[in-house]
Amino acid sequence: MDITTMPRGGFDASWLDRRLQTDRLEYLDRDDVADRVKHQVIRSLDWMGRVLRDHQRIADRALRLVADVAEPEILELGAGHGALSRAVLAQRPDARVTVTDIDPALVAALAAGDLGAHPRAEVRHLDATTIDAPDRSFDLALFALAFHHLRPAAAAQLLAEATRVADILVVCDLRRPPAALHLLRLASFLPFAAVLPFAHDGLISSLRAYSPSAFRALAAHADPAITVDIHRMGRNQLVIARRPRPPK
Ligand SMILES: C[S@@+](CC[C@H](N)C(=O)[O-])C[C@H]1O[C@@H](n2cnc3c(N)ncnc32)[C@H](O)[C@@H]1O
Repeated sequence: MDITTMPRGGFDASWLDRRLQTDRLEYLDRDDVADRVKHQVIRSLDWMGRVLRDHQRIADRALRLVADVAEPEILELGAGHGALSRAVLAQRPDARVTVTDIDPALVAALAAGDLGAHPRAEVRHLDATTIDAPDRSFDLALFALAFHHLRPAAAAQLLAEATRVADILVVCDLRRPPAALHLLRLASFLPFAAVLPFAHDGLISSLRAYSPSAFRALAAHADPAITVDIHRMGRNQLVIARRPRPPK
C-alpha cells in the first residue's frame, strides 16, 4: 500500500472519516503568513497548555521513561514556544535539553528568551524529518502537538529519524475522534476559524490528526522493527516509539 496516499484515519478508515481530512496548510506552516500571526497561534497554544496543564503532564509521562537514566540527553522537536522543554528542565534538574524547531523566527525567539540563556539548554534550528545528529545521541526525543503538520511520507521519515537519534520517541498529538463525533466538533469550531487564527489552525489540525491505525502503518513503513505503544491522554494521544537496541 502506498503510504503517501494513506488517509489520516489509516488504511482502514471509514468512508466518512476519509472525508474528514485536508491538505490545507495551517498558518504555522505557511511562508506567506506574517510572523505576528504565527506567534499569536503559538502564544495561544502555550496558554492553553498552561491552563490544561498539558506541558506538565506530557513532561511527566515522558520523563517516567528515562527515570533510571542519569543526566538524560533530551531532544525536543517542533518546540514552538518551548514550554515542554521548560517543564522537562524543571522536573529533571540533571537533564540536558536540546530545544529545536523548523521555523527560524520561532527559533530566534526561543534563543532570545530564557531557554537561550539556560545552562542546561541548547536552542537549535532543526527539521524533525532530517535530524542533523549521530545515531543514539539522545535518550529521549519529544514531539508535541506537531505530528499532524507532516504529510504521511514526512511523518514516517520523522519516526525513522527520531528513533535513530534517540532511544525513545514520545509523540503527543491530537486524538482523532470517531467520525460522527469529529463531524460535530468540526461544525462547532467552524464559525470561529474565520476570525481566530488559533481556531483556524485548530480546525485544520483536527482534520489532519492521525489515528492509532495510521501511526502503526507509518511506523511499519519507517522500519518494521519500530514498536509503537499508544495511550490516551485526555483529548490527545501519546505515542511511544522505539527500535530494539542493545543497552548503551
Ligand atoms: C502546533 S505547534 C506545537 C508547538 C509546541 N510543540 C506545543 O506543544 O504547543 C507545531 C510546531 O511544529 C513545528 N514544525 C512543523 N513541522 C516541523 C518539522 N518538520 N520539523 C520541526 N518542527 C516542525 C512548527 O514550526 C511549530 O512550532
